Amino acid sequence: MCKCTCASTTRLTVESLPLSANKRSQLLPGAGIRCSPWGSDLSQPRAPSPARRVPIAPTPPTRPVDMAKEAAEMSEETVHMIERSAGKDPEGALCPGDAKEMRAVVLTGFGGLNKLRVTRKAMPEPQEGEIKIRVKACGLNFLDLMVRQGNIDNPPKTPLVPGFECSGIVEALGSNTKGFEIGDRVMAFVNYNAWAEVVCTPLEFVYKIPDDMTFPEAAAFSMNFVAAYMMLFEVANLRDGMSVLVHSAGGGVGQAVAQLCSTVPNVTVFGTASSFKHEAIRESVTHLFDRNADYVQEVKKISPDGVDVVLDCLCGENTGKGLGLLKPLGTYILYGSSNMVTGETKSFFSFAKSWWQVEKVNPIKLYEENKVIAGFSLLNLLFKQGRGGLVKTVVQKLLSLYEQKKIKPLVDSLWALEEVKEAMQRIHDRGNIGKLILDVEKSPTPLMANDSTETSEAGEEEEEHEGDNDNKERMPFIQ
Ligand SMILES: NC(=O)c1ccc[n+]([C@@H]2O[C@H](COP(=O)([O-])OP(=O)(O)OC[C@H]3O[C@@H](n4cnc5c(N)ncnc54)[C@H](OP(=O)(O)O)[C@@H]3O)[C@@H](O)[C@H]2O)c1
Repeated sequence: MCKCTCASTTRLTVESLPLSANKRSQLLPGAGIRCSPWGSDLSQPRAPSPARRVPIAPTPPTRPVDMAKEAAEMSEETVHMIERSAGKDPEGALCPGDAKEMRAVVLTGFGGLNKLRVTRKAMPEPQEGEIKIRVKACGLNFLDLMVRQGNIDNPPKTPLVPGFECSGIVEALGSNTKGFEIGDRVMAFVNYNAWAEVVCTPLEFVYKIPDDMTFPEAAAFSMNFVAAYMMLFEVANLRDGMSVLVHSAGGGVGQAVAQLCSTVPNVTVFGTASSFKHEAIRESVTHLFDRNADYVQEVKKISPDGVDVVLDCLCGENTGKGLGLLKPLGTYILYGSSNMVTGETKSFFSFAKSWWQVEKVNPIKLYEENKVIAGFSLLNLLFKQGRGGLVKTVVQKLLSLYEQKKIKPLVDSLWALEEVKEAMQRIHDRGNIGKLILDVEKSPTPLMANDSTETSEAGEEEEEHEGDNDNKERMPFIQ
């Protein structure tokens, strides 16, 4: 809703939009009440979770009427913004500030959590072939922590808006964007800039979502499930009776891997994860080990020959261990380097240690041992290697599995943009089971201590300390 005092704002109704009955009903007030994948109303606050214990708890029914009203108002606001962008406000009587600016998370420089800000930025407009999306939810990935630290190859210049995936409603279309219309519910990959109220991204990275898929589910879907699917089926050729080892089995990708393995008969999944997650994920993983256990010995006790597929997101010493565990004709895939993250800021010691510990691969040894070694980076595939078309076909297959109820994103918790530091801290603390979501329409939950999330202009620098964590705990919405 317009926040200025101008009296001339013209409000149009959803009914006047040239939309199908289905889309119109999605945009009507009340349709904005957020639902969890499990069907409960996420506009109600959840109980706080103690660190490292993440109950997937039922929601206490607090102030449902107020919350529903708030959600309805948010939905109304979204509709109004869509109307404006669609050029249906004949008076043009809009607040310039509201129309041209948006809220976004900005990374002011590489480093700790104190480099993150929520600020107002110029609203992007779609270029040729681009789709403008009114964002509802954004995915927070482990990779975003690495970007924040500058722990990636060729990091872009700061300040920047982080985030690689989001879900929302199509608000405007550039030229040559056949197949989409204003009001479509979509999820999308973005080459940075996802953590904002509005994003523009090329049409090849945008996918329509099913009517019953919630926005948090959609924001939790693309990165995790596409990466998991492509590694299992495009690279490793997973088939009936094979076995897979996956680390961080309780995380976003880990849970996607476990669910996709369950779509193939007789696949055995070995997983490592922090012990407190075991109860919650036990059903999805055949054999679970504590992340600190000697998993090589544990796997060999159960399967002396080893496994067919090793999915390694840790790197360092785990590369050699993974290669050692492969059966003949087995495939090892490196797709991350979580071991490099040991504190809040980039550690050159951890980087060097991880690099030094990586098994130096000799192709002659691979030939003698009949082993396959591979690497996988979804973002490079999409944004550097031009494989958007291939990824689109994978997304269609995954959406079909979703519609058959064979897979379902596991959302850990929802956070306001202003709570991005606390959300990231939850991953640093290894507290998440499933995916963290930034919910653009959520208001920050009242703090249990003094507020540490400032709203200021990007570019403001602060002194940075290794391990400096001035965050105060907030209460996430636990799914
Ligand atoms: N190549 C690709 O295309 C691609 C795409 C997506 C993700 N990835 C990679 O896949 C991995 C998982 O990504 P995700 O987004 O799904 O995250 P995630 O698994 O939800 O990440 C959080 C979990 O990782 C585990 N972990 C391992 N090392 C950690 C460390 N140093 N600090 C904190 N937690 C650590 C923790 O679980 P436990 O304590 O239970 O082990 C933590 O709860 C990451 O390495 C990421 O970079 C790669």
